[in-house]
Amino acid sequence: MNIAFITSEAYPFAKTGGLADYSYSLPKALAKRGHTVHLFLPRYYCIDKYRFQCTLIGKPLAVPIGSGIRWAGIYYTDYIEGVHTYFIEHDDYYGRDGLYDNNGISYHDNAERFIYFCRGCLEALIQLEIAPEIIHCNDWQTALIALFLKIHYKDNANFNNTRSLLTIHNVGYQGVFGKEVLHLLQIPDTLYNPSNIEFYNNVNFLKAGIVYADCITTVSKKYAREIQENEYGYDLSEIFKAHSNKLFGILNGVDYEHWNPEKDELIPYNYSINKLSGKSKCKKALQEFYALKKNNFPVIGCISRLTYQKGIDILINTLDWLFFDEQEVQFVILGSGEQWLIDRFESLRAMFPDRIGVWWGYNEKLAHLIEAGSDFFVMPSRYEPSGLNQMYSLAYGTIPIVRATGGLDDSIEQFDEKLKTGNGFKYINNDSAELYTIIRYALRVYKNKLMMKKLIENAMFFRRSWDDAVKEYEELYTNIKKSNE
Ligand code: ADP
Ligand code: GLC
Repeated sequence: MNIAFITSEAYPFAKTGGLADYSYSLPKALAKRGHTVHLFLPRYYCIDKYRFQCTLIGKPLAVPIGSGIRWAGIYYTDYIEGVHTYFIEHDDYYGRDGLYDNNGISYHDNAERFIYFCRGCLEALIQLEIAPEIIHCNDWQTALIALFLKIHYKDNANFNNTRSLLTIHNVGYQGVFGKEVLHLLQIPDTLYNPSNIEFYNNVNFLKAGIVYADCITTVSKKYAREIQENEYGYDLSEIFKAHSNKLFGILNGVDYEHWNPEKDELIPYNYSINKLSGKSKCKKALQEFYALKKNNFPVIGCISRLTYQKGIDILINTLDWLFFDEQEVQFVILGSGEQWLIDRFESLRAMFPDRIGVWWGYNEKLAHLIEAGSDFFVMPSRYEPSGLNQMYSLAYGTIPIVRATGGLDDSIEQFDEKLKTGNGFKYINNDSAELYTIIRYALRVYKNKLMMKKLIENAMFFRRSWDDAVKEYEELYTNIKKSNE
């Protein structure tokens, strides 16, 4: 199949979260299955054209925006094996340090930047004579592609056989903008109504995608159900319900070439399910990095964006109690995000400097060391569409302690001491006391060496590779093509 995959971030070019991992792994897995894959991204300032061997291709690209046009350049690289990657360059929009914001403050022209990107990709496909059978877009930034295909390009022969699929990675981010952005879209006024793109007197880009895409997916089955409920739907639950016949959940996969303790070059000692001694050595290295006491106390790790979604405030309350009550436990965190959360961790660390370690910012190498060197990995998310770190943890024999929501619920099975089944620990309610109870339980299991060994084996036995996930996408692509023929 000929597939255009359109995204606002992809590893290794530009990354703020799991969307980048996804936008690297899925296109690569599709290409490996023999599909022709064209990946499109904005050419942000941080994407180094020399490092990624990008070359300018095609003619200058005239991209309609509002009632005028603005010119773009198209850069090309085959840096990701088998994936044709294109960057839409327009420095006024993308020649900035951040992808979406400057130190947490969203760019004032984000609506225009991503309207332009969506139009730019469609125009680039026409200029390059690429007629995709599927256009796979992601999140609010590229959701408008589905709308544009049905309005501006409905009679364009290039897209005669094109169907659109929108993957939603996080309903908490919808791209909601004031009515003044309508003129940039150049669509009929009649579409500004509550069953289309209007959303409480604003324009909602994600909603446009939900309404106009031929198919919608989210990144786990549980999350696909959750977003149809008020609590998780962020005011779109009714729209999701109305379009539930084209809504599916497919759990993300793990790139086991990148996240594999046997071969991982970013950790100091490699290890496997049969030879775990390297894991203990990684634990020592982790304790040393964070200047913690080197001992056999269980280490709980956490790598996260520090935001409301991730329930980090709930975790801090739990740790407050835990560290006063329990002497034999350590905790390390790697994260970036809201300052008030950082401040709270800092004051906790000041009280327990040889048992709590913190590192703020983005650090890929340290992320791998935490996965390898920790005994437990905590994810107290309020909601988690898929989550990747819990699956990375499983691969490293690091036992996840998670809230039973979205992809965390789909990938983690509660450990059962009697049956010796399960790969982690789950709690139901968004509540510090419940998290506290489950951590205490996990620490009790830790003391039983045989039990812990079985649990680690169960964890490392878990597999959710992109080779599995990609087959589910293929099936959907085929079905949308058929249903529209
Ligand atoms: P989300 O996309 O919601 O942040 P995911 O679990 O899907 O959550 O993906 C997070 C990805 O970002 C993982 O690859 C994780 O290791 C990585 N990550 C998050 N914060 C950091 C950080 N501070 N340093 C390094 N990697 C990080
Ligand atoms: C979002 C979600 C996360 C998911 C990632 C990739 O960032 O918050 O749960 O794993 O997208 O799909």
